[in-house]
Amino acid sequence: MAKKLIIANWKMNPSSIKEAGQIFSSISEVVKDSKNVFIVVCAPFIFLSDLKKKNIKKVSLGSQNISIDNEGAYTGEISAKMLKNFGIPYSIIGHSERRAMGENNEFVNKKIIMALKNKIISILCVGENERDHNGFYLSFVKKQLHEGLANVSKMQIKNIVIAYEPVWAIGKDAGRVATPEEFLEMSIYIRKIISDMYDFKTAHSVQIIYGGSVHPENTEAFLSRGKSDGFLIGRDSLNPKKFGKIISITNKIK
Ligand code: PGA
Repeated sequence: MAKKLIIANWKMNPSSIKEAGQIFSSISEVVKDSKNVFIVVCAPFIFLSDLKKKNIKKVSLGSQNISIDNEGAYTGEISAKMLKNFGIPYSIIGHSERRAMGENNEFVNKKIIMALKNKIISILCVGENERDHNGFYLSFVKKQLHEGLANVSKMQIKNIVIAYEPVWAIGKDAGRVATPEEFLEMSIYIRKIISDMYDFKTAHSVQIIYGGSVHPENTEAFLSRGKSDGFLIGRDSLNPKKFGKIISITNKIK
C-alpha cells in the first residue's frame, strides 16, 4: 500500500531560521516509527538550505512556488532548475493564495510543465471558492484540472499529486471545514476527470490529498470516511504538537 503523504505548507512562516529549525527537527521524533507516512515540508525558500542539512529520514523538502522560466532576468523569482540542482524534489503549484494574486490556470500549467522538465514533483492545488446548489463548483474544478494539466502526458502524471483544497475551508477565517464525504465525492470526481483525460489505471494511481483546516480532530475521519491519500496542512504544520498528532494518527490508519 502506498504511504500516506503529509505535506506541510508553512506559507510565510516562521520568522526566524532558529524557529524553522526547531519545528523541522521536532518532526524527526514522530516519524522515526512511522512506516506508513511520508512527510514533505514546503518551507520558505530562505530556510531550505539549512533544513536540508538536517537530513531527516522520511522527511523531504519542497518549495511553495516556482517560476515559469528556467533562468534569466526575472527579479525575485526562483526556478525549478535551481531547485533541482539544489536537490529539492517537491513544489506546491497553484495554491489558492497564489491564484488570488493573479495566477490563472494557464500560468499554473506553465509551472507544472517547468516542474516536470526539471523532475520536480508538483503538488497541484485545485478547489472552488464557494459551493453552489447547481454544481458549478464541479465544473470549476474540472476546468482547473483540464487547463492545469494541459500537455501533461500519461507518463508524466506520475510526478503530480493533486491537492483538493476548497478555498472556503482554508485558514483561520474559514467558514467551515469540508466534510470527509465532500472530499470523497470530489476525489471520485477528480479520478473520473483524470480517467477521461488519460485512462482508468492512471486515474487510480494518482494520489489525491485533502487540504483546508486539517487538525488532529478531523484527521481520522478524512482518512477512513474520506479515503484521503494524505493531507496538505497549513496552520497545524507549524505547531509541532498538533502536526505530530496528525502524523501518528495517519500512520495508524491502513
Ligand atoms: P490551513 O491551510 O491548514 O491553515 O487551512 C491549508 C493550505 O492553505 O494549504
